[in-house]
Amino acid sequence: MPITIVVGMQWGDEGKGRVVDLFSENTDIVARYNGGDNAGHTVTVGSEIFKLHLIPSGIIHPHTVCVLGNGVVLNPATLLEEMEMLGSAGIAITPERLWISDTAHLITPAHRLLDRAREAALGKAQIGTTGRGIGPAYMDKTARKGLRCGDLLDMVTFQLRVKQHFEEASGQLTALYHQPAVETSPLAEEFLAQAAQLIPFIRPVGARIRHALSQGQSILAEGAQGTLLDLDQGSYPFVTSSCTTAAGVFSGLGIGICPIERVVGITKAFQTRVGGGPFPTELQGETAAFLRGTGANPWDEYGTTTGRPRRVGWLDLVLLKYAVEINGATELFLTKLDVLSGLDEIFVCTGYQREGAAIRQADFSAEAGFLEQCKPIYEAVPGWREDLRSLRKWEELPDQAAAYIKFVEESCGIPVTHISVGPERSAVITRE
Ligand code: GDP
Ligand code: IMO
Ligand code: MG
Repeated sequence: MPITIVVGMQWGDEGKGRVVDLFSENTDIVARYNGGDNAGHTVTVGSEIFKLHLIPSGIIHPHTVCVLGNGVVLNPATLLEEMEMLGSAGIAITPERLWISDTAHLITPAHRLLDRAREAALGKAQIGTTGRGIGPAYMDKTARKGLRCGDLLDMVTFQLRVKQHFEEASGQLTALYHQPAVETSPLAEEFLAQAAQLIPFIRPVGARIRHALSQGQSILAEGAQGTLLDLDQGSYPFVTSSCTTAAGVFSGLGIGICPIERVVGITKAFQTRVGGGPFPTELQGETAAFLRGTGANPWDEYGTTTGRPRRVGWLDLVLLKYAVEINGATELFLTKLDVLSGLDEIFVCTGYQREGAAIRQADFSAEAGFLEQCKPIYEAVPGWREDLRSLRKWEELPDQAAAYIKFVEESCGIPVTHISVGPERSAVITRE
């Protein structure tokens, strides 16, 4: 089946947006299958920078159909803002180009309020969510009381359910989180007006995708977040509330299990994380400041969605190998190699020690309690000084950079097929 999956191998922000944009040139349908506007995917084309939270990153190419699958949770306000932003850049979002699943769940302003109230109540133990209402929206979904896009087609019933939803959330905010009472009707009215604007885009997306596949059309599945933020396989409880791994594609788009052509794992040449939770190779001090940047460059390590400085560290091959395994990745796309230029030595985590002993693969767990007890074992490899940003061929890379890439692929057992050396669409080295 002509399906390619682009999936984050770390804690998100690996550069999935730029990869999806690149691969979309040869794809018919680009589909998000998980998460919501907690995602922030950046696409740089020439001097234009697009920051996308919901609409798939394939939208910049005019021939694609972009899809929000049933696994997505969708905030109408963010989606409308994004449509406007793209419209003003000359990219019109029509119902022909954007399909929204009738069974995708909606995020309301009440979900956002609950998300923030829960985090505040957790104090020091907070997850560090994006505050976008993701957890509460998925909670309503699993509690079987969520509001789905298809419900908008019966507006009378929908209005009643929205009213009930806001009243219930308001009760929770005051009773559980001791928040002042919220005037819910203006919020509900604004939400209803925004949600109603999505009606022309709503489709039985699963059926459409299955039909497209039967016609031989190609699908690119765009993962949001990263493997280590997966609800089940990630560093629980410091995770998001959806299935972020390749396995989520089938249930999140409504397609049957079928052979996947490529599972492209995206990894930075180092490690980052936003929010709380364990991070075995985390760095502080000078090297951290070097990797993070000051914020002067658009690619410096500050969150695309929240602007928070990202925590940074050395590449963790234990976690990368785990991510390759969990996703069945067939190849790696290594991003931000250019950022490592200027270091004399680069460290890579090749193993962990826990309770004085090396950890065996068969005992490994990415769960937070386990990772917190892991001490990284490092190997040092020589760095390089050359600026890589103008390079487009493998042969042009400094020997040390090529050796670093080979070290990564030998450790993971799958090839690094692409290396990016800048945020711009063309700043990629493709290996034959
Ligand atoms: P995503 O969430 O996985 O799509 O990643 P983000 O867009 O949140 O963060 C990646 C950041 O790195 C963005 O600012 C990209 O423009 C930038 N970026 C992607 N690839 C490269 C690269 O190879 N080099 C540099 N310097 N920046 C890159
Ligand atoms: P993209 O798609 C990085 C993190 C949050 C927090 C945890 C839970 O751009 O890679 P949530 O709001 O989802 O309940 O927060 O997950 N997180 C991300 N970190 N990139 C993302 O998306 C993220 N989406 C959520 O920082 O630690
Ligand atoms: Mg991001």
